[in-house]
Amino acid sequence: MTLEPQAFLSLVEKRVGLTDEDKALLKSEADWGLKIASDMADHFYAYLGRDEEMNATLHASEGRIHRLRETFIQWFHEMFTGMDDWGYAYAERRWKIGLVHTCIGIGPQHVVPAMATVIYQVGKRLQADDKNESLKDALSRICMIDLAFIEQAYVEASSSAVLQETGWTEGLFRRLITTGACSTR
Ligand code: HEM
Repeated sequence: MTLEPQAFLSLVEKRVGLTDEDKALLKSEADWGLKIASDMADHFYAYLGRDEEMNATLHASEGRIHRLRETFIQWFHEMFTGMDDWGYAYAERRWKIGLVHTCIGIGPQHVVPAMATVIYQVGKRLQADDKNESLKDALSRICMIDLAFIEQAYVEASSSAVLQETGWTEGLFRRLITTGACSTR
């Protein structure tokens, strides 16, 4: 199971409905994005910190939370700039973020509500700063794309690990999953 990040980005962009107009709007608001990024990081880590398990992960190693604030600000700003116009670099970066989370055992149950928090807090700020609905829509779409990357990395990395360990074929693995899921419904 080897995912090609750029092809995945194109696919999810289409599914989410991120348009060229959305991209142009995000770019035009990149300075605003950077301006609010630090406040968004505060909300984000305050939210994670209220959960015992996630708080323990945040503080598991020296300097992690400090590093995280910096990477969050960068990540947040990149949603507006698209890095290389949502090309190869953007896709590779999002894929790597997904793998980092998988590697430390952060799964869908952690990431989905965390992204909902980002969308909620950005929504409040958009309103306070008198920004229009289309920016809110564009941001929600790009957040969903980034979320899809983190979720898909979790699936791909877990599956690859099982295939490597067992020597099973991908076909057999998929059959086992569907059979198992159907029998536990
Ligand atoms: C909206 C969801 C999230 C986003 C956008 C996000 C963003 C990021 C980014 C950009 C990085 C840096 C990746 C790299 O080093 O290349 C990172 C790492 C990390 N994230 Fe998240 N994150 C999210 C959810 C979470 C959640 C729910 C947790 C739970 C505690 C978490 C904990 C961590 C940790 C521990 C690291 C590694 C820090 C280190 O030691 O370098 N993240 N995250």
